[in-house]
Amino acid sequence: MGALDFFTNPVFVPDPQPYFEYLRSQGPVVKEPHHGVVAVTGYNETLEVFKDADLWSNCVAVGGPFPPLPFTPEGDDIDDLIDAHRTQMPLHEHMVAMDPPNHTRARSLLSRLLTPSRLKANQDFLWELADDQLDEFVGSGECEFLTAYSKPFSLLAIADLLGVPREDHKEFRNALANPHLMGNIEGEGAAINPLEFLDEKFSAYIDERRARPREDVLSDLANATYPDGSQPAVTDVVRTASFLFGAGQETTAKLLGAAMRILCDSPELQQRLRDDPSLVPIFIEETLRMESPVKTEFRLARKSTTLAGVDIPAGTTVMISAAAANRDPDKFECPHEFRLDRANVREQIAFARGVHSCPGAPLARVEGRVSLERILARMTDIRVDERFHASVDQPEYTYEPTYILRGLTNLHLRFTPVG
Ligand code: HEM
Repeated sequence: MGALDFFTNPVFVPDPQPYFEYLRSQGPVVKEPHHGVVAVTGYNETLEVFKDADLWSNCVAVGGPFPPLPFTPEGDDIDDLIDAHRTQMPLHEHMVAMDPPNHTRARSLLSRLLTPSRLKANQDFLWELADDQLDEFVGSGECEFLTAYSKPFSLLAIADLLGVPREDHKEFRNALANPHLMGNIEGEGAAINPLEFLDEKFSAYIDERRARPREDVLSDLANATYPDGSQPAVTDVVRTASFLFGAGQETTAKLLGAAMRILCDSPELQQRLRDDPSLVPIFIEETLRMESPVKTEFRLARKSTTLAGVDIPAGTTVMISAAAANRDPDKFECPHEFRLDRANVREQIAFARGVHSCPGAPLARVEGRVSLERILARMTDIRVDERFHASVDQPEYTYEPTYILRGLTNLHLRFTPVG
């Protein structure tokens, strides 16, 4: 197993757990041989890394060993090297790759958005959205769930959170949620770059609201200030908005896909949740533990240190993995079993911990609850479509070929519409 490269070998895509088990068998912190990445599979060690932003930099958070560092680490403290080369590193302009104090500043803009009252209004919208989305296909008794439901739903959830006017939702959906339209909009062959689309739309919204504020969420966003009272440049606000789509859409769509796959694989569980929807939130939590949509993320050691007794020189890339930590048998009993009555399930770390912990977690959880409650109320006998997944009893699934995310490429369902 150690001869295989986790970062390039597709063999680990359908099920990464045997690889994590192999690493775990050597210790909670192990250096892998191909890229010199130190892999952390222990739950406690993962928390230790998450919680120490002074020691661990997020500058490599998303790509890990790819692309390689744009500098050669030297010495026991590489803070200055990181700062000198930061702008050559992927996603450096987004908060996920920043470190304090710039990270703190960028993240403060978000706090204007994720207020309890905004989340409450957003939640009201989600109940309506779930039914609107289901209306589009429930009558047919079949769907490809990701295209028909989870991608557009998770996209429009964020659009509403940001206050995108309802009349623009269709345009957002066409541009960002429908893979068939990407690159082939209305048969004209024009490619749509999602980031360009978002930049253009949000620049216009923000400019307009700064000139003429209204009573709406976009005006709050446009006029949000940093903690020192200064007003961010329009590009910084636009970046915050676009990043929410990047960080929050695919991840939540993958969670919804995983949840439906689990319900198809277990008709008893499906019926239990239908009979008692109060179990849905705990079901979502266990789904997040078992199928953490962000499988791995990365940190760079700013200073030479040790972790679980392993020497880690400054400049080492460390892989932390919710998918591995959430299956640590020292933390979760029989970790590979899906259990609805797991007492400590809320300690799962699919949303990370520490200063970068996911600010969208409350939204993702509500999206999960609302979706499953409405789906279970409106569809019964939900099962995989054997024309696409080989058979109902022994279904076959394909997963997106990435070492970072965990998600199905498609999920074809059949079901009986209710009513
Ligand atoms: C099931 C769904 C989701 C999962 C599993 C998830 C997971 C994560 C994880 C693991 C991180 C930490 C990255 C790090 O430590 O470097 C993160 C960060 C982030 N997430 Fe989520 N996320 C989800 C949904 C969302 C949603 C719905 C939003 C937006 C509305 C969102 C916005 C963000 C942002 C902005 C960050 C960066 C935070 C920072 O760097 O301070 N996420 N997410």
